[in-house]
Amino acid sequence: MTQKVDKIKEEIKCFHIKTYNDLETFRIKFLGKKKGILTILFKELKKISIYKRKIYGKIINELKKEVQDKIKVFQSKNDIQNDKKLKLDPTIPGRSIEIGSRHPLSLIKKRIIDIFIKIGFSYVDGPEIEDDWHNFTALNIPISHPSREMQDTFFLCKNPDILLRTHTSSVQIRYMKKHCPPFRVLSIGKVYRNETISSRSNFMFHQAEGFYIDKKVSFSDLKQTIHYFIISLFGNAKIRFRPSYFPFTEPSAEVDIYCNNGWLEIMGCGMIDPKVLENVNIDSEIYSGFAFGLGIERLALIIYQIKDIRIYFDNDIRFLKQFKSEF
Ligand code: PHE
Repeated sequence: MTQKVDKIKEEIKCFHIKTYNDLETFRIKFLGKKKGILTILFKELKKISIYKRKIYGKIINELKKEVQDKIKVFQSKNDIQNDKKLKLDPTIPGRSIEIGSRHPLSLIKKRIIDIFIKIGFSYVDGPEIEDDWHNFTALNIPISHPSREMQDTFFLCKNPDILLRTHTSSVQIRYMKKHCPPFRVLSIGKVYRNETISSRSNFMFHQAEGFYIDKKVSFSDLKQTIHYFIISLFGNAKIRFRPSYFPFTEPSAEVDIYCNNGWLEIMGCGMIDPKVLENVNIDSEIYSGFAFGLGIERLALIIYQIKDIRIYFDNDIRFLKQFKSEF
């Protein structure tokens, strides 16, 4: 038996393991379930006396440990991952990275900015979280005035009232407070109103706001500017001005565009109310100005012939991909 053990020991030691195939042969040779040398010896143990069984059992266990150690040494040297990596075919093309595209609303936003930059407007941003004064009071919408109902508001806190801006007209106030006229300014951003979500309305939409203050700015300047804007965006479109009411403009108008055999309202506008100018310390005897505000989603509906505004925010790649070419 001792001779046998020595021989096995020698065999274990001398077995050359170079590859994972060798390793498997080695494992099967000694520990294979049916014919492994050590497995057979373990089986034979059952046939001998308990006394001898203990002695040989210990010896065979030691041999088994030697086999296992040798396996471990090989594995740690030739990390399985490395071997797998070697099996990779580096000639297979890599996974391609999809190039994204601009969101349709961003495309319209860019078009609007480009149009107004050409006629001397500069672009500014304003905060989406506003206080009551910038969103309402300074714009000639006093507390408990019925016109506040026109824009159902999301309040973040009351007293003092902090809210999600209901329109971008608050940017007029912020800008006019800080700058001296003359100026021509455009701002585009998200506005929030507590409206029922439907194919035509959402609790959030994007608005573009423009305003122009100088000496002797007149309603005809406003009309001409809007006309230039519509023509630049739609080509030769038919538009009309309808009298309307906004607390911060006087006179006020609504602009409609003729499309799909009907008039579609696309923006509000008017001459900035002298009271608003006074609220931001601009002398209304010297200066006058106009302002306009329009919904970007609405415009995009017309431009892209979209029927439901909810699709803009569905994150549906099939929809978004269609605007790739316009990047
Ligand atoms: N702020 C108005 C609205 O959200 C739009 C508007 C802007 C009207 C500027 C007149 C002048 O409905």
